[in-house]
Formats: sequence, structure tokens, C-alpha cells
Amino acid sequence: MERLQKVIAHAGVASRRKAEQLIIDGKVKVNGKTVSELGTKVSPSDSIEVEGVKIERENKVYFLFYKPSGVISAVKDDKGRKVVTDFFDYVDERIYPVGRLDYDTSGILLLTNDGEFANLLTHPKYEVTKTYIARVKGLVRRETIKKLEKGIKLEDGMTAPARAKIISADKEKNKTIVELTIHEGRNRQVRRMFDAVGHPVQKLKRERYAFLHLTGLNAGEARELTPHEVKQLRALAENGQ
Ligand code: URA
Repeated sequence: MERLQKVIAHAGVASRRKAEQLIIDGKVKVNGKTVSELGTKVSPSDSIEVEGVKIERENKVYFLFYKPSGVISAVKDDKGRKVVTDFFDYVDERIYPVGRLDYDTSGILLLTNDGEFANLLTHPKYEVTKTYIARVKGLVRRETIKKLEKGIKLEDGMTAPARAKIISADKEKNKTIVELTIHEGRNRQVRRMFDAVGHPVQKLKRERYAFLHLTGLNAGEARELTPHEVKQLRALAENGQ
């Protein structure tokens, strides 16, 4: 259920403020009945008319995208750089990324036009788990892995407990591949965590997002989430995982 004024605004009929005025002025009907209460909530199946014209409600769509590195997690860029929505020319709905990945990070990024869903998944209280594969400079020691897991002091506070695992180490090239699973989503968090322990990230990929993975997709490709996956993600976020 969503607030009537929000649905009207989202349909592109009027701004939120103007939509409220239209409701107050008695110019909005829900299922044929005039509604002048601002708090009214409507479901996707309700029919809404504004000044006698039925509004078209945008279908909610959900995509899992394998973001390549070198692409901005935004819908447009002032400097004309490639943005994630450039890969979705075939989609009519106005989708945007759920959270963000850095320009030079690759991996799973969800896109949707469902604001409530996006807010739920990015709310600090409900963030789902995300697994990153980082190639870092230097040979990472066991104590460092423990530190990453326990919590690292960053300028915006301690990081929450995480899971970290060494996947491989290359003595000759002086680099380590580490898998790091976190459920927070602070800005450049993984890079800052590794910087703090003296192992700058050279390459970063988000390999899993909750139970979702990249299997079957190449960088730059996307697929729609199934209704069941959308439901599962909602349930996970609501249960705080
Ligand atoms: N942490 C980072 O440092 N960068 C990302 O893109 C995602 C998480």
C-alpha cells in the first residue's frame, strides 16, 4: 500500500505537493469515489482518476546487473561518463540503482523503480549481507583477518562484525585475494577497511548480494529478478539479515 499523493506523483501527473492539493480540492477519485483525505493509502490494483483521467501506474521492475568497472552507479553523469542505466535502453520504466558500487568496483548491483524496496534494502538497520572479493596489496596475515572480522575503526566509527577469508596469496607478486562479507553499506567501506589495515585494494568485485550471485551473467549483462527472489529479499531485509 502506498500513499495516494505519492502514487499520483510517481505516475508523473504532478509534484507531490500539487498532488496533495488535487486531493484536498476533491479532484481525485479512487475506484470511482472522490477521496479528499491526504492519508489515504492505495494498493496496486486500485484505479485512480485525477480530474477525470485515469492514471497509468508504472509496473514495478527489478533487475540484477553485473556492473562492469568503469561505470558510475547513477542514472546520469554531468561529465558524460558511462552510467549503469546506459545498459538498460530496452527498459521503459525509470529504474535506478539500489545503493551503489564505486566507479572502479564490478559485480552485483540491483536496479528497480520500486522506491520502497530500494529504501528497505539500503536502510542501515536492515542491510543484507554482501560478499566482496578483493585483490589487495601485500600478504595478509591471520591477525589482520581477525581484525577485519572483529571491527575496524574508521573515521565514521567502528565497522560491525564481518567475515573474512584468504582465498589465495601470491608471494612473488606480493598480493592476496580476500573474501569479505559485510552487512553494512558505508561509502567505500571495503576499500577503507583494507586501507586501515595497510593493504590497499587493487581490484574489487561484489560477488554476492544476500543469496544472489552472478552465475550466468557476463559483465554488462542483467536479468530480471523473479517475483520469488524479490519476496525473499524483502523478507531478509525485514528480518535484519
Ligand atoms: N565497498 C567499497 O569500498 N566499494 C564498493 O564499491 C562497495 C563496497
